[in-house]
Amino acid sequence: MRLRNKPWAVKLVDEHPESVLQNPNPEVKIDWAARFGNDHPIRIEVGSGKGGFITTLARNNPDINFVALELQTTAAGIILRTKLEEGLDNLQILRGDAADIDCFFDANTTDTIYLNFSDPWPKSRHEKRRLTYKSFLEKYKTVLKEDGHIEFKTDNAGLYSYSVQSMNNFGMHFDFVSVDLHHEKPEIVEKNVETEYEQKFAAKGNPIYALHADFR
Ligand SMILES: C[S@@+](CC[C@H](N)C(=O)[O-])C[C@H]1O[C@@H](n2cnc3c(N)ncnc32)[C@H](O)[C@@H]1O
Repeated sequence: MRLRNKPWAVKLVDEHPESVLQNPNPEVKIDWAARFGNDHPIRIEVGSGKGGFITTLARNNPDINFVALELQTTAAGIILRTKLEEGLDNLQILRGDAADIDCFFDANTTDTIYLNFSDPWPKSRHEKRRLTYKSFLEKYKTVLKEDGHIEFKTDNAGLYSYSVQSMNNFGMHFDFVSVDLHHEKPEIVEKNVETEYEQKFAAKGNPIYALHADFR
């Protein structure tokens, strides 16, 4: 999904290097504890879009640090605006490519990586761009702690089925799967934090597919 370029967002991002790391050199190690000013646990969302999900998590969990990894500057600027308005000191924005996630974070950094409504790239020739392609799984495995896991949601049946196969082929273990997340038991539905895409597709009546998977 390509957002229309918003000059204010680009300017805001440029003005706040303390909150947004822009396209960092993958060769240079990022000191996340220094950026957050503490060594609280870190959770990462890959492809945060406008950031409704990650800003809600940051607001509700002040003792956990969150990183929104996002390719687009306009999206980064929209997330940043919320962060600044609400003073979410436990949220950092990383404007970069998930293909470099293993350069941006040390091995065994996080217990959770969130993948929400990733671009489906339906054409076979684009398989390698899907964020659940094996090359990405390999990198997530490095960045995740041994007991860490991936939480994945999508409205796209094709991407869901592809991701289940890709993760299964990779030897991953599933501890939660749902083909209709919004109609699961109330305790599961209540805990779910919806993303912008999720709200849009659920409003159209589309089922939301979800899974949690780990590398144990
Ligand atoms: C379809 S949108 C979903 C946004 C949000 N997660 C939601 O559910 O509302 C996918 C987002 O992933 C970002 N994205 C796609 N490929 C990426 C990559 N390789 N690295 C980082 N972000 C990526 C896009 O820029 C876009 O903002």
